[in-house]
Amino acid sequence: MSNPHAVAEVVDAFDVERVRADFPALHQEVNGKPLVYLDNAATTQKPRAVIDAVRGFYERDCSNVHRGVHLLSQRATVGFETARTTVKKFIGAADSRSIVFTRGTTEGINLVASSFVRPRLGEGDEVLISAMEHHSNIVPWQLLCEERGAHLRVIPIDDDGDIILAEYERLLNERTKIVGIVHVSNALGTVNPVREMIATAHAHGVPVLVDGAQAVPHLAVDVQELDCDFYVFSGHKVYGPTGIGALYGKREHLLEMVPYQGGGDMILSVSFEGTTFNEPPHRFEAGTPNIEGAIGLASAINYVNRIGRDAIAAHERRLLVDATAAVLEIPGIRLIGSARERASALSFVMDGIHPHDIGTILDSEGVAVRAGHHCAQPVMKRFGVSATVRASFALYNTDSEIAALAAGLVKVREVFG
Ligand SMILES: Cc1ncc(COP(=O)(O)O)c(C=O)c1O
Repeated sequence: MSNPHAVAEVVDAFDVERVRADFPALHQEVNGKPLVYLDNAATTQKPRAVIDAVRGFYERDCSNVHRGVHLLSQRATVGFETARTTVKKFIGAADSRSIVFTRGTTEGINLVASSFVRPRLGEGDEVLISAMEHHSNIVPWQLLCEERGAHLRVIPIDDDGDIILAEYERLLNERTKIVGIVHVSNALGTVNPVREMIATAHAHGVPVLVDGAQAVPHLAVDVQELDCDFYVFSGHKVYGPTGIGALYGKREHLLEMVPYQGGGDMILSVSFEGTTFNEPPHRFEAGTPNIEGAIGLASAINYVNRIGRDAIAAHERRLLVDATAAVLEIPGIRLIGSARERASALSFVMDGIHPHDIGTILDSEGVAVRAGHHCAQPVMKRFGVSATVRASFALYNTDSEIAALAAGLVKVREVFG
């Protein structure tokens, strides 16, 4: 969205109070103060529509999927498979069969590591990730590299928290078997130029997995336009339930991939002599899936679509700019991450005050932020800190909540002198 007038119109049309009315959990007091929920990168609150969709499943349609001829099972199956189509459209996939339901981002990455990369990874081969990855896009690759005698290579980032693209290109070589890159960093807020990075990897014949956990809630994502090989995200970070997420994979990859887990639903036939596996995506969904989670996720996506992704992005962008300015007015604050393009997350440290102390004082003011390493210890090390305070914004946050954050930080300063 390059036209600033268009942005202004979208923001004007966005009624944050009406949005807030849809989220029951926002209307409570914490420590005697109105809740200011700024921990959205960890998980988001849920709109009534999502809560109702999950409850509706249990009240009316509770049954197992894919197996029953009776009406409840048919209704559950329709709900589950319609949710797959909703996810497909949400991320711009061409085919619902490219959408595998998972427990979340973490499971999606483990699935790709196990079923796609493991059979291709030999001794001396390389897996390439960036210095700003979440532990879930580090540890599965470490485990796999150790098992196969392969090496984990890391793309460095600069002092602003941007990927050093020249280094990235230098690290790609004929031994690189996969690139795993975060779309939006949970610790720094950096929006990575994934489209360009994917094109570069493909020029070297290397497939790319994108960790979209922090991107999908804030940006319009189109996997076909990105041309990524795999894209993973979690439902709970985009207003859906916990325990559900999705893996997008190019169909040609999914068709070649070996099963991730064995069990019911992922087979066509089983005998003691051998088993014929089901087609993707069911090949990768062994056992009873998280049916109500998928239905709740679809409801969350429908909710986001109703509000409008451009309107959400414009609102959140303005919040991030204003919050950055407000926080920087407080003496002794240092931002961790000032990349060219950022989304949602504002990470900072305060001279001589531990982030946990800051988080505790803010909590006493009703302001919920995250204080810690954000499951990204290597990037903390890169910036010479062990932890930061992170405020992360969602579609229901307001200007007065930014003011509450700033007032809370002033109080922190007063308490610590
Ligand atoms: C960038 C990123 N990747 C992966 C994850 C892991 O997501 P989940 O715990 O939902 O699997 C997170 C969660 O914070 C994240 O922020």
